Amino acid sequence: MKESYITTAIPYVNGNPHLGHAMDYLLADTLRRYMMSQGQKVRFQAGTDEHGNKIFKKAAEAGISTQEFTDQNSKKFQDFIASLGVEYTDFIRTTNPDHERRCQEIWRRLKDHIYKDSYEGWYCEGCEAFVTDKEHDENSGICPDHKKPYIKLSEENYYLRIADYKDQIREAIETDALKITPAFRKKEFLNLLADMPDVSISRPKSQVSWGVPVPDDDDQVMYVWIDALANYITVLGYPDEDISTDWPAHTQVVGKDILRFHAGIWPTILLGLGLPLPKNLLVHGFITVNGEKMSKSIGNVIAPEEILSKHGLDPFRYYFLRHAPTTDDADFTWEKYEASYNELANDLGNLVQRLATLCKKNEIASLKPLAVDLDDEFKKHMDVYAFNVAFDYAWSKVQDLNRQIDAAKPWELAKTDPAKAKSVLKDIASQLLVVSQMLEIFIPTTAKKIQDVFTAAQILPPSTPLFPRG
Ligand code: MSP
Repeated sequence: MKESYITTAIPYVNGNPHLGHAMDYLLADTLRRYMMSQGQKVRFQAGTDEHGNKIFKKAAEAGISTQEFTDQNSKKFQDFIASLGVEYTDFIRTTNPDHERRCQEIWRRLKDHIYKDSYEGWYCEGCEAFVTDKEHDENSGICPDHKKPYIKLSEENYYLRIADYKDQIREAIETDALKITPAFRKKEFLNLLADMPDVSISRPKSQVSWGVPVPDDDDQVMYVWIDALANYITVLGYPDEDISTDWPAHTQVVGKDILRFHAGIWPTILLGLGLPLPKNLLVHGFITVNGEKMSKSIGNVIAPEEILSKHGLDPFRYYFLRHAPTTDDADFTWEKYEASYNELANDLGNLVQRLATLCKKNEIASLKPLAVDLDDEFKKHMDVYAFNVAFDYAWSKVQDLNRQIDAAKPWELAKTDPAKAKSVLKDIASQLLVVSQMLEIFIPTTAKKIQDVFTAAQILPPSTPLFPRG
């Protein structure tokens, strides 16, 4: 059976996991759970990007070896992913010797598209990338992401010739053979592609020592993009193994800042290797805190663990999957988080408590576990990656169930027409089981609890409410 392959961006290990990283994992995991609900087998990659100067410097500051530093930090990301309830099938570290060897083989195979040159241009040290003159001017010489001036950099580097496949890439994106979601990002990237310069893929060893050596050139190491992007296929065993069971990827999840690398450089590498392009790139926005970019200097960084420890995992997943639009920027504030938690408690927590109590009183027999497919309307939104809209839809059903109870007043019916009360309650509980299947994609632990309550030998309200108040 063909597997559907989902990938996540591999974060740099120069810092701790933050809320931005959580978005990659949560969105990819939502897709994973949805595809599995549709009977598909999913392969799911995650990993850490461990080379480069920043990491080398951070390790030196910490007074430990670079390898030890990356070991520790890579572990933090693995723990972080687990803490989000996200399960991967493969985890790749770019310092893994197999990965390094495979990257060198990939480099060799791309030889026809690589040339050495000295290049001078505007470079952002934060992005570790050159920008076009046009971009430099539009941003008045300052990188909008790092708030640092671009520097003029001149170096001997190897370059990947983007021009070789520009037309093919443009066509693939225009025709949605490589589909970029959302459409406004596709448009944005196509505008950028026209002027996309060749990209530097190595640095002199004198400048950077922590990296994969360029084959057959002792003076250069690979720098960032070949080594990083190749992870998506080296983790599958390329080029040692046949990867056609998994490649091309069904969906690659990335943040907006790295779209250009995934839609420009990555397709160039793949076409150069004679491999097919991924089918979808899902591009999410940025998480801000109180309307501002998270930054250590502003001092507004909120550790995800702090949020997770407040009300546990599902309220976290609820907030970032329902109240963060899947493909736009989203803001976090504690006020909004508490309001979102209250919504969970009022709409869903109360519903389960109230309905299970009524079922117990009226001696409703337990329900059979459901095996029906998800609602078409729900799937329609999921299929176009409008996860938050699908979640809204599921939530409207939750709210509707509350309304149905209010309207039917089963506690009054029980006095006049107990049989009717029973059938009403049974019907509402059955509908809740259907809704729980949609919820399972986003808040799996809660959905399982609901299913347990209503399919248990005897229906009893949960001994502690699903979303207790502090
Ligand atoms: N190492 C590269 C990716 C290589 S993929 C072959 C990198 N790492 S990163 O740590 O800077 O970012 C990892 C992911 O987190 C990216 O998808 C990025 O867009 C995402 N985010 C980083 N900060 C973010 C926010 N504030 N909000 C949402 N996502 C953001 O880039």
